[in-house]
Amino acid sequence: MDRVHDEPSQCLDEASWAVRRLTTTAPVVGVVLGSGLGAFVDELAGPVMLPYREIPHMPQPGVRGHAGQLALGTVSSVPVACLQGRSHLYEGHTPDTVVFGVRLLASLGCRIVLLTNAAGGVGVDLVPGDLMLVVDHVNLTGQNPLVGLPGPPFIDMTDAYDPRLRESAHRAARDAGIALKEGVYAGMLGPSYETAAEVQMLASLGVHAVGMSTVLEAIALRQAGVAVGAVCAITNAAAGRDGAILDHAHVQRVADLVRDKLTRLLCGWIGVAADEPVARPGSTPA
Ligand code: HPA
Repeated sequence: MDRVHDEPSQCLDEASWAVRRLTTTAPVVGVVLGSGLGAFVDELAGPVMLPYREIPHMPQPGVRGHAGQLALGTVSSVPVACLQGRSHLYEGHTPDTVVFGVRLLASLGCRIVLLTNAAGGVGVDLVPGDLMLVVDHVNLTGQNPLVGLPGPPFIDMTDAYDPRLRESAHRAARDAGIALKEGVYAGMLGPSYETAAEVQMLASLGVHAVGMSTVLEAIALRQAGVAVGAVCAITNAAAGRDGAILDHAHVQRVADLVRDKLTRLLCGWIGVAADEPVARPGSTPA
């Protein structure tokens, strides 16, 4: 198990300085691109690509489908920074390593971060190829990135997924003629997929989609006062929902099919969201 550093804020400063030295883009919107969803960076005007290995302390994603670079540029004149690839708890990383990338986006000045992921559909009305806007999450990883680190620990997670950003996602989807469902996302530790009984439990908890990312990032971003939006690309019916066998290659193939739709949604969403007054501090007194 790695740990970013004994001095997390110093690591973040060093990473942030390195990025600022290499680019003049001052991003206001951050995007995190999940498994197989990295093609969005082709939409950036004036792109600058920084491999994670050139950014001090930035963890390397170990999973196929995660490129491992920070892409900066503009979308509809909005300065954007994209993490093309993320780290996961199931790779053996600590929570603070998993959220290092989104903390970097916050320290670069992003006041909005849009998270994307590949997820299994728990709800019967979610089928492979659907996009689901996250309205809330259930963190079942057993981990929290705020444990034992500096910064306010008691973060208000009511409306963790910013209501105005959710409205702007629906507006962007309508404008682009894209069907956008919405629901609750459960974040699991992984890396094995769920059992059918676990999926049954998730359904009874009110969960609509399940995956292995996003929840820790959302918590860290709320601590940083960044407004969070998230969208799931539904790549499969969750275990036991349709009798199919789950495998990562299949998840990636469906992610490939969905990524054009997701890219169009993100482009429109960024345009609408950047005009909105969002983001407020997520901390409350103990
Ligand atoms: N479960 C967990 N993570 C996932 C799934 C799933 O069914 N599909 C894509 N990521």
